[in-house]
Amino acid sequence: MTLSSYEAKDLFQWLTNKEDILVLDVRNQKDFSRFQVESPYPFNMQNVSYYDFMEIEDESVAKVPRDKPVRIVCAKEGSAKYVGEILVEHGFEDVRYLTGGIKTWGNLLVPKTIHDGDNYSLFQFIRPGKASCSYGLCSGGEIMFFDPSRNVDFYLDFAKSKGCKVIKTFETHLQADYIAGSRQIAEQTGADFFGGVDFEGTKAGHKSVTDNEIHTFSQGGSDVKVLFTPGHTPGSLTFIVDDTYMISGDTVLIQSIGRPDLGGQVDQWAVLLFNTIRKVAQLDDSLLVLPGHYSSWSEADKDLHFCLPFNQVKERNKEVFSIRDEKDFIQYIKDNMRAQPEEYALIRLANGNMEQYDLEKQEELDLGKNECAATAYAKAQAAKEN
Ligand SMILES: [Fe+2]
Repeated sequence: MTLSSYEAKDLFQWLTNKEDILVLDVRNQKDFSRFQVESPYPFNMQNVSYYDFMEIEDESVAKVPRDKPVRIVCAKEGSAKYVGEILVEHGFEDVRYLTGGIKTWGNLLVPKTIHDGDNYSLFQFIRPGKASCSYGLCSGGEIMFFDPSRNVDFYLDFAKSKGCKVIKTFETHLQADYIAGSRQIAEQTGADFFGGVDFEGTKAGHKSVTDNEIHTFSQGGSDVKVLFTPGHTPGSLTFIVDDTYMISGDTVLIQSIGRPDLGGQVDQWAVLLFNTIRKVAQLDDSLLVLPGHYSSWSEADKDLHFCLPFNQVKERNKEVFSIRDEKDFIQYIKDNMRAQPEEYALIRLANGNMEQYDLEKQEELDLGKNECAATAYAKAQAAKEN
């Protein structure tokens, strides 16, 4: 057998088809525990560092089961290829290495159709490596994006595949956990980039919005209403599409709400968030929530969409939605707080175009799962630490 390669999208396909493969991650244990491949379903994964394959080859090879196709993951590609060659020499039959390394998994976007009607189509782009979602809304040969990530080529190719011109791109807030793509998309396509007050004083080149303003396509399609929903950040926005969908950024999540402590002003931002949650709770129960993040695949429906009616979201999060007192809310937030990754301050600077990083630095900053939820992930982290 000869060694062959695969791409991140192949891996997503195998995992979601529940194929019986082994994902062999050959990065060191520290990098592996910081960020690793996740699937909606249980799967076999093993971490044996490529150093071990170099130093104690036979022992390391013996750890790898021979009864499954082996799909190797490493940081950049080279060490996965190296380990793959060793396994092939040892008689393994079906071995492949990930082209471009784990960062390609981190950047992977998976498009899902949320609505495909005569008037407009709405797509959710799931980023499994970040546990985040961005959106595309198409109508009459035009497309608007919401919270695109830095994999700009993906969005431009997607627009092209739908025969659409990019007319607008929106950011729900100044993201702290990933490098946003709106600025670059706007630069490359001439589309307008809209953002809230988070972007004031930055060099992001955004156009500002007002509360309740309506965005439209040139002809027909769905309306997009902008709502000011400060709290996760002071300028957080929510977009209501066709009075049917709520693109909620990190304000309302399917599990939990967006944490308001990322800016280092937890008391002030928590008050904003408290008022926002009270206001948002009055919106129509039948709105379908399309979040900016998720904590785990358990929040997805059977078609692997992250989309849930608002009344069910409120039910799942009644611990938060039932708080009536501002002080109790602040206490609740504080009880759930934990440190944020150091990179977040740098990512904010990148997203405000206040600092320019080279490609390698961008990739380094951008890798890893989000930590935007106020509760669920906190619990998972705490469980890990104990
Ligand atoms: Fe966020």
